[in-house]
Amino acid sequence: MEPAIEVKDLTKNYGEITAVNHINFEVRKGEIFGFLGPNAAGKTTTIRILTGVIKPDGGTATITGYNILEQALKAKQIMSVVPEMANAYIDLTAWQNLMLIGELYGIPKKKRQERAEGLLKEFGLYERKNQLARGFSKGMKQKLILCMALLTEPQVLFLDEPTSGLDVESARLIRDTIRQYNRDGTTVFLSTHNMEEANQLCDRIAIINHGKIAAIDSPENLRMKSSGLKSVEVSFNKPVSANELSKIPNVMQVKKIGDKIRLYTDEPHSVMNSLIDYARSKGLTIITFNTLAPTLEDVFIKLIKEHEED
Ligand SMILES: Nc1ncnc2c1ncn2[C@@H]1O[C@H](COP(=O)(O)OP(=O)(O)OP(=O)(O)O)[C@@H](O)[C@H]1O
Ligand SMILES: [Mg+2]
Repeated sequence: MEPAIEVKDLTKNYGEITAVNHINFEVRKGEIFGFLGPNAAGKTTTIRILTGVIKPDGGTATITGYNILEQALKAKQIMSVVPEMANAYIDLTAWQNLMLIGELYGIPKKKRQERAEGLLKEFGLYERKNQLARGFSKGMKQKLILCMALLTEPQVLFLDEPTSGLDVESARLIRDTIRQYNRDGTTVFLSTHNMEEANQLCDRIAIINHGKIAAIDSPENLRMKSSGLKSVEVSFNKPVSANELSKIPNVMQVKKIGDKIRLYTDEPHSVMNSLIDYARSKGLTIITFNTLAPTLEDVFIKLIKEHEED
């Protein structure tokens, strides 16, 4: 099946800075694809290229087969974007903003009114529909922009950090809406620096740093594949020197966390056996004992570090 988004060798420079550095990836139809990276990684730049706001210096990209440069209009008709910076017209009301988008996309009047009403209700903005966007709070503006993006029933929806700066409830509403539209067939490309958000929402994640992609995989596979990040956490009835525990075979790193000691290893079972032997030989009692799988955050930090060492 033709991918929803196909990116080949895409590059963008700003003077000395290479914001996007020869990246390649594919987003499958029906996927929620996450672009996870720290500040200045190149997330917004990539989204701006893919949504036709800026031109790349090299490489190609297609949206459901339409080349973003040669078939820009076609590509734009099937996508919507919720940009990083809010862009509702502040001198128009919520309703007028939605009608304007509907007209621009040639949606018949009755249909755009029906959809606008439904969306405003979904986002709890219907009561405020005749007020100027100028007077809307940050969260309300963000919801209005999402309504505007969804009004056109896009096949591909781009969201640049859609929940950043929102309260817990608003963030959840936006995540639920993203899931719901995805279930109904919308492909979603979402940028975030929030690991937990990527984990909760995405089928696959690309980790981007300094304009380069460090890894692409499902959240679960990213966790599994990362070696050296499994750990055993132990505490004893008496203080024990972390230095001594670092001599246990297969232990890669030892960290003291409160009254517990965490031993990073690829062989948690062997380390557990060694710890039992150690406790016995020193006359210590083990109080807590846990094996821990890496979190997505551990994976992220590891990949970013490896990348910087290249
Ligand atoms: N218009 C511009 N002019 C000059 N430099 C730019 C411009 N846009 C982006 N950059 C640079 O490109 C790099 C990537 O920026 P980008 O906005 O894509 O990062 P980001 O991943 O979206 O970060 P954030 O999480 O902070 O939003 C940064 O070093 C930034 O300074
Ligand atoms: Mg950004």
